[in-house]
Amino acid sequence: MSRIAVVSAMHPELAAVLAWLPEAQKQTVAGREFVLGRWHGQEVVAVLSRIGKVAAATTATVLIERFDVQAVLFTGVAGGVSPLAQVGDVVVASAFVQHDMDASPLFPIYEVPLYGRSHFATDTALTAALAQAAQAALAQGLLDAAVLADIGMHAGKGSGKTADQRTAQVHQGLIISGDRFVSTRMESQRLQQALPQALAVEMEGAAVAQVCSDYGVPFAAMRTISDRADDDAHADFLKFVDRVASRYSAAILDHFFTQRSR
Ligand code: ADE
Repeated sequence: MSRIAVVSAMHPELAAVLAWLPEAQKQTVAGREFVLGRWHGQEVVAVLSRIGKVAAATTATVLIERFDVQAVLFTGVAGGVSPLAQVGDVVVASAFVQHDMDASPLFPIYEVPLYGRSHFATDTALTAALAQAAQAALAQGLLDAAVLADIGMHAGKGSGKTADQRTAQVHQGLIISGDRFVSTRMESQRLQQALPQALAVEMEGAAVAQVCSDYGVPFAAMRTISDRADDDAHADFLKFVDRVASRYSAAILDHFFTQRSR
């Protein structure tokens, strides 16, 4: 039976997911607790990657080398850099780029040296299934404006619409990763200009994508937009992560594993 890894960077992003695995066994490797259980019959191993690209790469390597996972799913939050990606939306990654990779002039900016490329694509089939699960969760109204209003945030921040005029959306596209929490409008705009296709920014996905590519293990990732990577990012991120992030992840993954069990 194949085993799927479910990874988040921080505990508040994974808390509701762990609640789905009450009978789980636990194993500690490299200071990380790996939680082994079943979700709708599917064998899963859930773990916190910790924050940043190196921590995430270590976690992905252990998952593949020690836990023999056949696929890796990353779930968590991200800052929206494209005007399309508003707070409460879900972004399913089609590819990742490290926005802080720059070995120029030896290699083109963003290119990972000796790989000959900057973009690491996610697995097409897993990504499609994750996007479908996100749409299904959204259709149930789990991810709507009321959830955000509850915690004093509003959907579509910056979109010129009020919370009740805009419902959460699922987007598919480029996510960029770097070892920096993007918390100024200036930096967010700089990233948007440099990488105009980028929908969202976070700190782990590109590292996991690269490790999975090295091993030929399918990878998919979804991120809920917790903030707009602007001057309010810090406050918005903390509120969102604490109150809603893991509800989103658990709802979407529940649809994902239900679909797979059919
Ligand atoms: N994860 C969530 N919000 C983020 C931001 N603004 N920058 C980097 N990673 C994030």
